Amino acid sequence: MMQNVKDIEFKEFKDERGCLSAIEAERDVPFKIERIYYITKVPGHLERGFHSHRDLEQVLLCLNGSVRIRVDNGTDREEVLLDNPAKGLYIGPMIWREMAEFSEGSVLLVLASHHYDASDYIKDYAAFKEEAQIFWRNEK
Ligand code: TYD
Repeated sequence: MMQNVKDIEFKEFKDERGCLSAIEAERDVPFKIERIYYITKVPGHLERGFHSHRDLEQVLLCLNGSVRIRVDNGTDREEVLLDNPAKGLYIGPMIWREMAEFSEGSVLLVLASHHYDASDYIKDYAAFKEEAQIFWRNEK
């Protein structure tokens, strides 16, 4: 997978009573969780996201149903289908993300490293591509 994107497999405690997974900050996700939000009731044909963050780190999990996540570093694009509550997708800084194909009743949970900060967003794709070029050149 591209830099700043990775799959995270959460442990599942499964028995006849059902399934339990735990997420501990700085252990199961690589940051202190300052914020949690969740997305529900998305009409199946609608897509969300379409932005990047400059500093924020997030982990996305689909607790029910499935959601397709498209990630883009300004050069390459990849897709991940979140269809299992034990599967997380880490997305670090300077990755454009789009969320699509929300299944009926799907619940997308997002764990974030910082409080909400509108100034950390890049919402224009052309501006993202320009900043990403500089960011990834300095990362290498
Ligand atoms: P938006 O960024 O449009 O969602 P998405 O990334 O799924 O496309 O957010 C929808 C609204 O929610 C917008 O008015 C900002 C607000 N919001 C918060 O107040 N706090 C948050 O943590 C987030 C993620 C969004």
